[in-house]
Amino acid sequence: MSTVSTARTVDWDGTDGGAVTAIDQRALPGEYRILRLASVDELVAAVADLTIRGAPALGAAGALGVALAARRHPDDPWRVRAEAERVAAVRPTAVNLRRGVERALARLDEGADAVVAAARALLDEDEATNRRLGRRAADLLTELCPGRPLRVLTHCNSGALATVARGTGLGAVHELADRGLVAEVLACETRPLLQGARLTVWELREMGVPHRLCVDSAGASAIARGLVDAVVVGADRVAANGDAANKIGTYALACAAAQSGVPVVVVAPDTTVDHATASGAEIVIEERAPDEVRAFAGVPTAPPDTPVYNPAFDVTPAALLAAVVTESATFRDGAWSVPVEAAGAVAANAGSACGSR
Ligand code: MRU
Repeated sequence: MSTVSTARTVDWDGTDGGAVTAIDQRALPGEYRILRLASVDELVAAVADLTIRGAPALGAAGALGVALAARRHPDDPWRVRAEAERVAAVRPTAVNLRRGVERALARLDEGADAVVAAARALLDEDEATNRRLGRRAADLLTELCPGRPLRVLTHCNSGALATVARGTGLGAVHELADRGLVAEVLACETRPLLQGARLTVWELREMGVPHRLCVDSAGASAIARGLVDAVVVGADRVAANGDAANKIGTYALACAAAQSGVPVVVVAPDTTVDHATASGAEIVIEERAPDEVRAFAGVPTAPPDTPVYNPAFDVTPAALLAAVVTESATFRDGAWSVPVEAAGAVAANAGSACGSR
């Protein structure tokens, strides 16, 4: 394991009035650099251009954005609230962003130090949460695909870079690899911004996990040809009925997986489950700039001014998923189940659904 990967994806630097530090995810894999974001404007720009991305990392960025605002405007709570709303609104699909903002904002009446402490607590919880959900997802995957090291297909990046540390979907792969149970990861490149090629492959190399990269359009045929035992991804928002929004292309992979009887497992923290959203139809899908599709790294890949459809996410219906696994609950066979040790932790969950697939 390289030493660079031990840095947190996003963090708080308490020196010089406080600032957010972030691994610059636009620069990877070519360059590993840490940015220091000292203003809310810089943080908002970093979230908008995917310097910081991935649902749990966005939650951390949201809380840290409020911490920055509280430090800059200690005597102006209205200004802090306005800045907080600006941060929360940058990306609409990942529920963690607004949740992170709200969590830090809840301490505003106690002063800036309390807001910073709330943001730092969220960061501290992230890695432990991800280790728990990674273990739970790895247990489920070995139950679904027993007796052999797995060939896993993944899409986008749900690794340490998408969280504060460790990752969700790729965290489960990390856990499986620690158990000697990964034969290969097939990583879809994830057009248009190549989070799979640039970030997931970079993380898999750091982990020392065998992997191959494929173009997104090869994923379905890899599944159909029997090259994949399980599809494992993260999520940006999971509705109460188990529908899951994730990077555009996830739905197509889930359709292919259903056709071939390959399980699709979504791995996400409780904070990504939005029980106020009844189904995936209610999830707002972020549409991004046309130039992300018309060009790559400044090089045109289509005629200029070509009209573009560029949704950043899609929704996979729960019926196509073997399970959604969080650190305290599992959605399976149409209902949420909460294991005995976590009973009471997820108030909105009910019922039990641990049947076999
Ligand atoms: O646009 P991005 O890169 O923020 O999209 C990220 C994803 O879709 C991830 O799969 C999702 O956030 C889960 S990350 C643990």
